[in-house]
Amino acid sequence: MKKFTTVNDIGNLDQAVKEALEVKNNRFGYSDLGRNRTLLMVFFNSSLRTRLSTQKAALNLGMNVIVLDVNQGAWKLETERGVIMDGDKAEHMLEAIPVMGSYCDIIGVRSFARFEDKRADYDEEILEQFIKYSGRPVFSMEAATRHPLQSFADLITIEEHKLTKRPKVVMTWAPHPRALPQAVPNSFAEWINAADYDFVITHPHGYELDPIFTQNARIEYDQDKALEGAAFVYAKNWAAYTDPNYGKILSTDRSWTIDSRKMALTNNAYFMHCLPVRRNMIVTDDVIESDRSIVIPEAANREISAQVVLKRMLESLK
Ligand code: CP
Repeated sequence: MKKFTTVNDIGNLDQAVKEALEVKNNRFGYSDLGRNRTLLMVFFNSSLRTRLSTQKAALNLGMNVIVLDVNQGAWKLETERGVIMDGDKAEHMLEAIPVMGSYCDIIGVRSFARFEDKRADYDEEILEQFIKYSGRPVFSMEAATRHPLQSFADLITIEEHKLTKRPKVVMTWAPHPRALPQAVPNSFAEWINAADYDFVITHPHGYELDPIFTQNARIEYDQDKALEGAAFVYAKNWAAYTDPNYGKILSTDRSWTIDSRKMALTNNAYFMHCLPVRRNMIVTDDVIESDRSIVIPEAANREISAQVVLKRMLESLK
């Protein structure tokens, strides 16, 4: 595997989940694979889970790990070609990226949507430059439009907990005080569509996602109706995607917060969220603390999804 940025890069999903469960049962079974190999993790944005789980996965495989927080101690990077660099940005990505590539074997990149230019966000301008200029296999640790390591972990978690072959999975928008990118809901939709579950998306009017990701998922604007009979409830906030409101907050309506009344509409559903989560905005304390909340095993599976991706990339280096 030379690149991991979308569901298409993982190949057959059944095989990927099978491999993930094998890795989970034998985390140190490939601890020689990464010997004398170095992972560089480059963060343009904050992280807790991605940082720790990906590092742990690399350590399980015997890799060395180096981490660069671009906004803490590195030179400010210019991303646009042709700019006269007379401002505060001391280095261009076109030099910085191949230099980073010279110090490692595999690169992970976290680079969120900036909500300044929709085209630049949806063209994945930062991530694509790493793919083009680093000379190394590159994987997304959440980019502007997708978060595939999260979605793979979500899929593993659903497969571990589902009671029917094709469970009803409901992704619901929920309120948040800040404008958040669409990467997690886009990516979740992409992976759940690929898994061919019974998939429903619910959100207020104006929060429609790019149809490239939602495809044939049913869109239901009545949240209560959407939740009826759900086996999994996946809550997430995102800012508006459609023009002219790209990147804007259109609603903070707390009647969309997932509470025990909403969960009672489901078929005893499991509650999921990628974390970090704003309690009593996205979900009430009692729901996230209930025995139907699987947010912790979901986060724990981030180590497994990262380990499968790193393992496949290491295998491709041989
Ligand atoms: N879910 C997730 O990616 O968490 P972090 O932002 O903490 O890495």
